[in-house]
Amino acid sequence: MAPKVRRVGGVVRPPGDKSISHRAVMLAALARGKSELSGLLTGDDVKSTARVLRQLGVDISTIRDGATVRITGARLTARSARLNCGNSGTTARLMLGVLAGQKFAATLTGDASLRRRPMRRVTEPLKQMGADIKERGDGLPLTIRGGKLRGLTYSSPVASAQVKSAILFAGLTGQVPVTITEPYRSRDHTERLFAHLGLGIHERDSTISYQPSGISIPSFTVTVPGDISSAAFMVAAAVLADGGELLVENVGVNPTRTGILVVLERMGAHVERINLRDAGGEPVADLVVRPAGLKGTEVTAAEIPTLVDEVPVLAVLASRARGSTVFREVGELRVKESNRLELVAANLRGLGVRAEALGNDLHVEGTEKPPRGRVDTASDHRLAMAFAVLGTVEGADVKLSERKSVAISYPGFFDDLRKTGGR
Ligand code: S3P
Repeated sequence: MAPKVRRVGGVVRPPGDKSISHRAVMLAALARGKSELSGLLTGDDVKSTARVLRQLGVDISTIRDGATVRITGARLTARSARLNCGNSGTTARLMLGVLAGQKFAATLTGDASLRRRPMRRVTEPLKQMGADIKERGDGLPLTIRGGKLRGLTYSSPVASAQVKSAILFAGLTGQVPVTITEPYRSRDHTERLFAHLGLGIHERDSTISYQPSGISIPSFTVTVPGDISSAAFMVAAAVLADGGELLVENVGVNPTRTGILVVLERMGAHVERINLRDAGGEPVADLVVRPAGLKGTEVTAAEIPTLVDEVPVLAVLASRARGSTVFREVGELRVKESNRLELVAANLRGLGVRAEALGNDLHVEGTEKPPRGRVDTASDHRLAMAFAVLGTVEGADVKLSERKSVAISYPGFFDDLRKTGGR
């Protein structure tokens, strides 16, 4: 019998960018007057940020698909004993920065996954700025009492946009100057939004600084572009198909986020960017994706921050490539929503792929054998989606331990995957 061919086709629009959505909601909450945000991600993580800000007295209209979200900025007040950040590391870490400049105590907590994630990388610099933080270990729950801060010049040991942004938010709410350097450039959405709002942000020789101006944050309107980290799953499913072409519309192509396209190019898949435009200081394009035969590659440590959330799906693509692929220095993946480094390797092995975490590197050997077996997603949205994509290849039989975690960042994931011709 001739093998079945999977043709990809049609048009998909990924949900709003998660990173930009969090930042836009927080800045609107701190602004004077009413802001209007469209294109926001409606996933659970952004709802966690909105919930926490509502608990602090901010008026935020319902976040739902297609709706413009209206946010009336307010002086934050301590109304709740505990602020629950759910599964969202970005909510917890960036809100610590926001709270560092407030004159009240607040306790942050989250779900079991978030409570295991390191917070000291943020609490250390915030304490140096003068925030009073009571923590039991390197994680949530913790209590922060902000107030009068002093400026900070900080060299971050990790390339983390969350660390950088927490410090920038503390500078903003505490109205003190901050300067940050990082080992590699992480995503710069906070810097771009600050610049969009005319807040004193500067970059020189890869050092970011914020200089307070004393003026209040103006209310604003912004349209959030689609999330390239979500688009990545549709792009990967299209690359793995046997024929056809997929159009992925309205994708943010900020160069601090497009590492996946650079690596795909090296692996043999050219993703075309058309209709390049700007949305609120962020570059946006439509992506044209065609199936391609892939070859293995080496992903360097410097590239990792530009594709940090795409390692699971890139590892899945590497498992279908000719030859081997190595991801250098991906130890940070151990402290994401799950231990992604070990779980990507273990789940690939469970499906018949040779894969291994050696030190901080991830090695994947490509194979043509159909992937068959059960995947433990550990309720991690990006693991669920990456392995669902692997389940679309000819002859695959991939059973996910759960599917509902996709609601964190891509509520319509399975519908979109089906729509593009995925199984
Ligand atoms: C994010 C930054 C990244 C990324 C996360 C979102 C952000 O984390 O993995 O999904 O919005 O700033 P780190 O900054 O910890 O690398």
